Amino acid sequence: MAEVEIDNGQQKTSPVYDRVKAVKAFDETKAGVQGLVDAGISKLPPFFYMSPEDLHDLPTLTDPHLRANFQVPIIDIKDILDPAQHKEIVEKTRSAAEEWGFFQVINHGIPNHVLKEALDGVRRFHEQPREVKMRYYSRTTDIVRYYTNYDLLQSRGASWRDTLICVMAPDPPPPEKYPCACRDVLLEYSKHVQSLGEVILGLLSEALGLDPNHLKDIGCSEGHTLGCQYYPACPEPERTLGHVRHRDPDFLTILLQDEIGGLQVLHQDHWIDVPPMEGSLIVNIGDFLQLISNDKMKSVEHRVLAKSVGPRISLACLFTTHLQPSNKVYGPLKELVSPHNPALYRETSILNYLASYASVGGLGNVLSFFKLV
Ligand code: OGA
Ligand code: NI
Repeated sequence: MAEVEIDNGQQKTSPVYDRVKAVKAFDETKAGVQGLVDAGISKLPPFFYMSPEDLHDLPTLTDPHLRANFQVPIIDIKDILDPAQHKEIVEKTRSAAEEWGFFQVINHGIPNHVLKEALDGVRRFHEQPREVKMRYYSRTTDIVRYYTNYDLLQSRGASWRDTLICVMAPDPPPPEKYPCACRDVLLEYSKHVQSLGEVILGLLSEALGLDPNHLKDIGCSEGHTLGCQYYPACPEPERTLGHVRHRDPDFLTILLQDEIGGLQVLHQDHWIDVPPMEGSLIVNIGDFLQLISNDKMKSVEHRVLAKSVGPRISLACLFTTHLQPSNKVYGPLKELVSPHNPALYRETSILNYLASYASVGGLGNVLSFFKLV
């Protein structure tokens, strides 16, 4: 067994520890981090260790008094059809999208049992015998794929998380393509989340001063992909993260998290917890919406802490057309630019943006590649 040299929590690239080889060997097991848990490890393989700079880049807001003033907005959309309430909901959505880039939606109409069954399905997939799961293990753009970290081979420190990706729209494959452990519940959830996505895009359109159908009409909800995340209990949670800081490569994300917690959003240079709220869904603005809104709405960085308890399960629905990235280009909407408010970005196709995203392993501000000024 090779000995590992650690310097200030950072691995040294030395002949003692061949990181690339270790990562590749792990990837080839196709067993994910859950496979390491099943093997009974009590310490993380060193390629999961992150540097103190990556772990403690900014403070987490812990002061209870300050926390009361720094809460991710909660928007109740129960009375969305009532004209007076509707106006207020649009206004709340506007300020949340501009100031936080994140909000929690309650009374969204998706029944609790649909949410619960979807999370149970994600758990069932990840807790199957490895032989069943590994058939889906892939680092390509397959419609259904399972892997540990999309950036495993590039990252400075791997995140403690396994992911099942299911592209649900447009042009869904025959249902048999989806793993039977979660097929029915994901198809059901997908129908509901598609409708909710359209409702939220309607609110965001109005919040931008556009016709309610505008964002839908330009294709923002044409496709969606489910990221079925599984964060097992971590033997050394203080040395890694469940999901490194990142922005989402889509128009909009609707996220369902279980009761464990750990998601944090960056706000005013602090990490703020996004507390689990039963029945709620988290909405965040992705990079494409920031781009087409010409920076009016913000795609904000977020991360997930690793925890000694678990597994934590979440289900992220990314509205984007990853797999059918036509050459359709997106740029700041002409309705939102003027001589006084010129376009901040050049036009790009989703395909082109994704190539940039992949080139930096999803880290940093990918939008800056498309900035004009
Ligand atoms: C994501 C994401 C957060 C979570 O999938 O992009 O940020 O709570 N997930 O799992
Ligand atoms: Ni995300």
